[in-house]
Amino acid sequence: MTTTPEGGEWVAICPLQRLADQTIVCVRFEAIDLLLVRHGDRIFACERACPHEQADLSWGRVADGRLFCPRHLASFDLQNGDVSVGWPSRSLRRYPVRTKDGQIWVDAAAVKSAAA
Ligand code: FES
Repeated sequence: MTTTPEGGEWVAICPLQRLADQTIVCVRFEAIDLLLVRHGDRIFACERACPHEQADLSWGRVADGRLFCPRHLASFDLQNGDVSVGWPSRSLRRYPVRTKDGQIWVDAAAVKSAAA
C-alpha cells in the first residue's frame, strides 16, 4: 500500500494486462467485491452489486460510457455513477483508480469508507 500526499491509500489490485482483452474484471479487496471496468482507454472502479436490487454487475455490459445491469437493464454512467432516468436507485459507487507500473491501483481508503 502506498500513501500519497493527497491522502489516498493506494493499493495495487490487479495487473493492467487482465483488462487487455476483457471489459469487466472482478476483484476483491478486504472482503469487498469490486469491478474494474474498461471503456476505451479509460479504467473505472466501482461496486459489484447493482444499487437497484443487487444483481451482479460483472454479468453486465458496457456501451456508450455506461455500465448496464444484466437484470433489469438500468444503466450507470461510468463517469459519475448516475443511474438511467426513471430508476428508483441511488447512483453507482465509484472509486478512485489509477494505473502505474503495469498495475491497476484503487484508493483503499475510499473503498473501505464506502463499505462502512
Ligand atoms: S438489479 Fe440492476 S437494474 Fe435492477
